Order: sequence, then structure tokens, then C-alpha cells
Amino acid sequence: MTAREKAAALRSRKGGSRIAALTAYDYPTARLLDGCGTDVLLVGDSLGMVVLGFPDTTQVTLDHMLHHVAAVARARPSALILGDLPIHSYDSPAQAIDSARRLADAGAEAVKLEGGTEQAAKVRAIVDAGIPVIGHLGMLPQHVLEEGGYHRKGRTPEQAKAIHDGARALVDAGVCAIVLESIVPDIARDVTRAVPVPTIGIGCGETTCDGEVAVITDVVGSFPWFVPPFARPEGKVADEVKSAVKRYVERVKGAG
Ligand code: KIV
Repeated sequence: MTAREKAAALRSRKGGSRIAALTAYDYPTARLLDGCGTDVLLVGDSLGMVVLGFPDTTQVTLDHMLHHVAAVARARPSALILGDLPIHSYDSPAQAIDSARRLADAGAEAVKLEGGTEQAAKVRAIVDAGIPVIGHLGMLPQHVLEEGGYHRKGRTPEQAKAIHDGARALVDAGVCAIVLESIVPDIARDVTRAVPVPTIGIGCGETTCDGEVAVITDVVGSFPWFVPPFARPEGKVADEVKSAVKRYVERVKGAG
């Protein structure tokens, strides 16, 4: 399937089977997740924290993203490869098109950017350039510094209105889906009912959206130093790694 066919297939899941999306940042993870029926592999700028060791996503560059999108693309997954546009790679419509093209050339089949009404012109420009776009509303990690932390959104009528307006603007601009992050469940559910494209939730409650996205390290338990309160770990990979490495170290050091 072409990128546009995959994006259209994702859009057509509205009202149908639920969407399971996960982040992936490298070739082996992409192969493993694709073999498990994951629908979307998000090369998220969360790689800044869980792969590159930055405190947040604000130091992630387009070059970082290109490196990791290319690694995931080498796995040739059936899942849609979604690449995040990092902070300051889409400050104008022209820059947004250029950055999205570079991500697409590296293997991204759709791109994601943060924000609502204020980003609609950029979304339209990228879509018109032939690259599918997924929106991202609610808590926006690229704004963590000016907002002084990660705050749940949709708690006031003004915030709820901004989310609804943003969703409408993104749909009008041509997105094929919208990620909703850390929005109070009632508002996430309302937005999901209101828009004709699938919503993919994280930290919005479990059945409020048309699907869910999770950070792979939260799901497999490989980044024990920070686990978001809404995460539901399904594995303990960090413990497995430590046991295996301890056995290796003991075997090597004991062999002399
Ligand atoms: O970068 C990322 O992992 C994301 C998800 C939190 C949706 O954008």
C-alpha cells in the first residue's frame, strides 16, 4: 500500500475496529511491533526522553527524527509509519512543507504536528503537498517549558472550546486522524463523537477515543526511571535486561 492508501485506510477506521498505535524508534522494535498487529508506528519526538536522554522533547531536532524514521522504515512495516515534526521544524507553512518532505523522504508515511486552530494553515499546506497529516491536541509536550509542566487539558470551558475548535480546524485542513493527549475523559469522548476522523488517545481514559497510542517503553517496562501515571505496563523488560547482563558479567568475570 502507498502512504496515501495507508492513511486513507486509517481514516476509514472511524466507527470501525479500534486502532492500536505504539511508538517505535528503531529497526528491531519496528519489526517486533509490526508482527504483533500494531496499526501505527509513531516515531515520536518522545525519543528525546526515552532514547536520547533529554529531559523533554524540546531539544529534539529534525536530524534526530530523520535518523530514527529511516531506521523504522528499513523494517518495511505494514503499519503506517508516522513521523513527528519536532519543535521549530514547522514554524511557518513553507518550513512545515520542507520538514514534512524530508521526513517523507526518510520513510515517514504521515507526519504529526502539535496544535489546533493555529496550525491549520500548515496542515493544509502539507496535505496539499501530498503528505498525510495526523493532528495532536490537548496536552502538547513541545509546550512544556512555557506551560511549566505537563497539565491535563479540558478542565475549563475555555480549554474544552479550544480543543473542539482545534479539532474542527484540523479536520477542515485535511488531517486523517487526531491524537488526543491528557484530556479529561468527557471532553475526549465529546471530541471523538464530533469529528469524522479517528481519535487516538493517550492519557484520556481507555474507551474515550477510537484507539490508543502508547510509548513502547511504558508498555514493555524498559524505561523504569519515569513511568507516566496513566501508563499500563504489560512487561518488565528492564528487569529482564538486568538479570541477563548480571549473568553475563558473572560468567565473564568468573571465567579467569
Ligand atoms: O512523541 C510521542 O511519543 C507522542 C505520543 C505521546 C502521542 O507524540
